[in-house]
Amino acid sequence: MRRLLITGAAGGLGRMARQRLVHLAPTLRLSDIIPMGMPAENEEIVTCDLSDAAAVNELVKGCDGIVHLGGISTEQSFSVVLDANIVGLRNLYEAARHNGMPRIFFASSNHVVGFYRQDEQVDIDSAVRPDGLYGVSKCFGEALARFYHDKLGQETAIVRIGSCFESPTDYRMLATWLSYDDFVSLVERVFAVPKLGCPTIWGVSANSRAWWSNEHVSHLGWHPKDSADPYETAIRNAGNWPAPDHPLVTLQGGNNTQDSLSDD
Ligand code: NAI
Repeated sequence: MRRLLITGAAGGLGRMARQRLVHLAPTLRLSDIIPMGMPAENEEIVTCDLSDAAAVNELVKGCDGIVHLGGISTEQSFSVVLDANIVGLRNLYEAARHNGMPRIFFASSNHVVGFYRQDEQVDIDSAVRPDGLYGVSKCFGEALARFYHDKLGQETAIVRIGSCFESPTDYRMLATWLSYDDFVSLVERVFAVPKLGCPTIWGVSANSRAWWSNEHVSHLGWHPKDSADPYETAIRNAGNWPAPDHPLVTLQGGNNTQDSLSDD
């Protein structure tokens, strides 16, 4: 790749990706709606609202790959989610269609299946059971990605990220944690494989408490190296251990399943 676009570059994952994906392309194009600081020599900074179709078209022009991290990452009102995650995603795929169909890494979420119980076996063919409007928007994103693939051949890795943070900090993350190193190695594989198609991948490290399996995408050659297991004692000792009937223990979406539903 000559130029890799990272959307959401000012966000938690975007700031990490900006540092850790430098080796994937000589030029990183970074975009967000909030300030991203000064560009380094290898960087182009573009302030862009994903809901602005013309601006997104310009943003994607000249890019050979996209790591799409931009958008609303928590439960919010429908109008907010609509602009960033639904209109914004459609704008991104239209821009890709008009600009050579660069391969896309789409940051979906485990919250597309949040209302499954933790003791239920969920795979990528299980019906979606989103746990909020945020999760619903990610279901839309997954469907849109698949549609552009079936219709046009646009390649996307749909990555249902669990919890991607420096380290796991609570009970649920012992199952859902994705380490930064494993995130980086997944992005590397997504852009390295000669043929990607449109797989759905669980973005999760090798945690023994994990609920999901990536056997169906073993051909991608992604082997997560990290595990949340060594953090279990510290999390127990910190008093972060929920009661057995708490949603953090019963439902895959954890506390998101308890969010109140906004009226607007
Ligand atoms: P974040 O909220 O820290 O970053 C998202 C970025 O998108 C922000 O900098 C924000 O300014 C930008 N953004 C929001 N609306 C925008 C718009 N209309 N136009 C342009 N930019 C906009 O989220 P984080 O944690 O970095 O996550 C990145 C992606 O990964 C998100 O799509 C999130 O849903 C997904 N994800 C992350 C997980 C995690 O554990 N960090 C778990 C599951 C999914």
